[in-house]
Amino acid sequence: MSDQRHVISRKDYKEPDFFVEKVELVFDLEREVTNVKSRLFIHANPARGTGVDDEVFLHGEDMKLVSVSINERRLASGDFTVDQEGLRFTAPREAFIAEIETQISPANNTRLEGLYVSQSAFCTQCEAEGFRRITYFPDRPDVMATFKVTINADKSSCPVLLSNGNLIDSGDLDGGRHFAVWEDPFPKPSYLFALVAGDLACVEDSFKTVSGRDVALRIFVEHGNEDRCDYAMDSLKRSMKWDEDVYGLEYDLDLFNIVAVSDFNMGAMENKSLNVFNAKYILAKPDTATDMDFELIESIVAHEYFHNWSGNRVTCRDWFQLSLKEGLTVFRDQEFSADQRSRPVQRIKDVAQLRARQFPEDGGPLAHPVRPDSYMEINNFYTATVYEKGAELIRMMHTLLGPDGYRKGIDLYFDRHDGQAVTCDDFAKAMEDANDIDFTQLKLWYSQAGTPKLWWEGDYDADAKQYRITLTQKTDPTPGQSDKKPLHMPVSIGLLGADGNDIAAKTVELTEATQEFVFDGVTEKPVVSFNRGFSAPVNVMTDQPDAELVFLMGNDSDAFNRWEAGQKYATRLILSAISNFEENDGNADAALNDVAVAVDAFIGAMQATLLNDGLDKAFRADALVLPGEEFISEQRKPANPDAIHQVRNALRKRIGVALMDDFENTYHQNASNAAFTPDALSAGQRALRATALGYLVASGEARFADLASDQYKASDNMTDQMAALSVLNHLDHPGRADALADFENRFAKDGVVLDKWFALQAMSSRDDTLARVKDLMGHPAFTMRNPNKVRSLIGAFAVGNPRHFHAKDGSGYEFYTDRLIELDDINPQVAARLCAPLGKWAKYDDDRADMMKAALQRILAKEDISRDLYEIASKSAA
Ligand code: PHE
Ligand code: ZN
Repeated sequence: MSDQRHVISRKDYKEPDFFVEKVELVFDLEREVTNVKSRLFIHANPARGTGVDDEVFLHGEDMKLVSVSINERRLASGDFTVDQEGLRFTAPREAFIAEIETQISPANNTRLEGLYVSQSAFCTQCEAEGFRRITYFPDRPDVMATFKVTINADKSSCPVLLSNGNLIDSGDLDGGRHFAVWEDPFPKPSYLFALVAGDLACVEDSFKTVSGRDVALRIFVEHGNEDRCDYAMDSLKRSMKWDEDVYGLEYDLDLFNIVAVSDFNMGAMENKSLNVFNAKYILAKPDTATDMDFELIESIVAHEYFHNWSGNRVTCRDWFQLSLKEGLTVFRDQEFSADQRSRPVQRIKDVAQLRARQFPEDGGPLAHPVRPDSYMEINNFYTATVYEKGAELIRMMHTLLGPDGYRKGIDLYFDRHDGQAVTCDDFAKAMEDANDIDFTQLKLWYSQAGTPKLWWEGDYDADAKQYRITLTQKTDPTPGQSDKKPLHMPVSIGLLGADGNDIAAKTVELTEATQEFVFDGVTEKPVVSFNRGFSAPVNVMTDQPDAELVFLMGNDSDAFNRWEAGQKYATRLILSAISNFEENDGNADAALNDVAVAVDAFIGAMQATLLNDGLDKAFRADALVLPGEEFISEQRKPANPDAIHQVRNALRKRIGVALMDDFENTYHQNASNAAFTPDALSAGQRALRATALGYLVASGEARFADLASDQYKASDNMTDQMAALSVLNHLDHPGRADALADFENRFAKDGVVLDKWFALQAMSSRDDTLARVKDLMGHPAFTMRNPNKVRSLIGAFAVGNPRHFHAKDGSGYEFYTDRLIELDDINPQVAARLCAPLGKWAKYDDDRADMMKAALQRILAKEDISRDLYEIASKSAA
């Protein structure tokens, strides 16, 4: 247990005592026992103090050590020690070569860290600390080496042999085996090492870089999936071009490989020139992938490609600096998507995601700064805070510096630090130096956890034609951080006149706890559009009257704030109806009747949005969606999942009934006979039509459920089929069972697609859902060893089905807790990630909170609990 509790602190960082300049690896690949020989060219860090002991420490876990030699002399067993953490021996005086032989078992690696088998292929995952499960090595990102990798494997089962860099040799060996030698000229940390070997199909294309070099682009997939790579390939080429155009960054090798694997803990991994992807984020064709899948593929392919500079050429000094590469790269992929699609729609999506995932994290037991101060298990820090809040921090720098100043800072950063492992402070320093600006206060966003609250108060002086606005900020305490300082943040504010046009607009820089800003030349009392574009990633606390929100929904020149006004209005309406619901003994209709005037005004504003042809369809689709149940539950304490579910549905029904004709017209006008294309415009049209269908079904009129059922049968693309299925999913309509059966038949052998089918059923609000989920655990395609399956069935139940997960009788918690305990022995990283929903007990009533806490205690009592799960469960229980 003491091992589990070991805390690593940022302030304890020490430079490595030894560096590795070059690594030569030889893999003899076998599923049961793979032999790994490593030659390490090691020298002492010249900056190391003299007189310190000259012990060399190499990380290593769960391996069999066969032998260690130093400068070709084999060490006797008394000359080194091995424990659970690694290998220690005494270093010679001069630079030396260590040769280490280990044995590992890819077929038995269910954690999917290090070298493992996915379907029939061998693949690796080394970030963050997987390399130490392959061989003994200083497995930390500030040790950067060039890698030369020899792979020996059976030729018929592994015709494809890949690693990082360039292929420099290959050929046949005895016994039906063959080999390939790869050399990566760019020094890199061990977490960027990758190896793939298997019988894979290859789709090939090429890209000419700005300086005229031809780069071969290859995507490797399981046989039969060759026709599902087009969109990923196209996204890759557009990413390469965009990085040249917008950041002046060119690709640096002649080869770029992507491999799609079925078993993967995360989304994808940016290994140098050999990106490995969760197959879900590569494979797509119109009849297997939805518009949302296409969008995700585009952004994740871009994200991993962009890491070649922001992550690989310049990497992290230590894992506390993770946001150095992740926050920056998320910001880069968000901007790429904004340029490829609709900028406001992209921003809406990114903010909705931030508020749904990061704000709750920042307000709960797992709150931590963008640059954490400590961790037990680094795997647990690939979080929405490090990624998405980290991206907001970079976005604020972009806003404050403007595009040119930002680019100057970026240029200096890459110039100064190319080939180095650096810190978030180094990044901020480059931004400061290039722009002669002081970011001392802005950098508090790296170190201070919690979502700031922001209030505003306006005062119009007609005589002086002045509008004065006073901003007040406050950040609540978070675990381990009781005193919060005022932050530096850009706040974009617009003032609208009665005609709906802007009278004035500017971005102010808030630095004090309370601060006043003045707008001059304001000729009439304005309506305020506050925090446009979500320029500051905060919770705006100030309420605006219903009428102002309706006005903003119809007029704001900032599309984000048009959407935001609608969300605010809907949230307020739902929250007050929930209070009525609780007083009215659970009658959702009566609850809405009590706020009938506001409901009518809201529906009028929704109608205006629906019918406004000047707005793009993707935007209208987003603007018509009510805030989700999870989001609403964050706004209220205690959250009442039944009330939220019923009131939100009752409001959807009212909207559906009131605007039935408009939705019906929208539905039919947006039908398309053209062949499916995944572009943003067509996707927007499909999204608007799906929204209309959703409201029509919500109206309760039976003919619309038939319509959904017909749509499922008639459409030739997954987007329209899923739109139909996801509304049928909650009904008792016979079309539901038919569609689910058809889906299961068509995709029985298609893991990535069948995951949608598992997730749908897990998210159904029908009463039989939990029983069905339990049954599905026994489905032939389900396995606890595949993270996508676990996330689709079990994860989706907890995150996408608040009503059943939080069932009053505790059945949801009980089922879920059993699964986490079971999963911890298979894949601790995934188990730990899935544990977070149980940590939200403080948001619920006492009965539920007690059951959730008891569930956490049950997890903590598990024998041999992993460090991953222990950290999340213990922090969540506190
Ligand atoms: N570095 C990967 C990314 O963000 C994420 C990842 C982390 C993948 C750890 C695997 C393991 O692109
Ligand atoms: Zn990343």
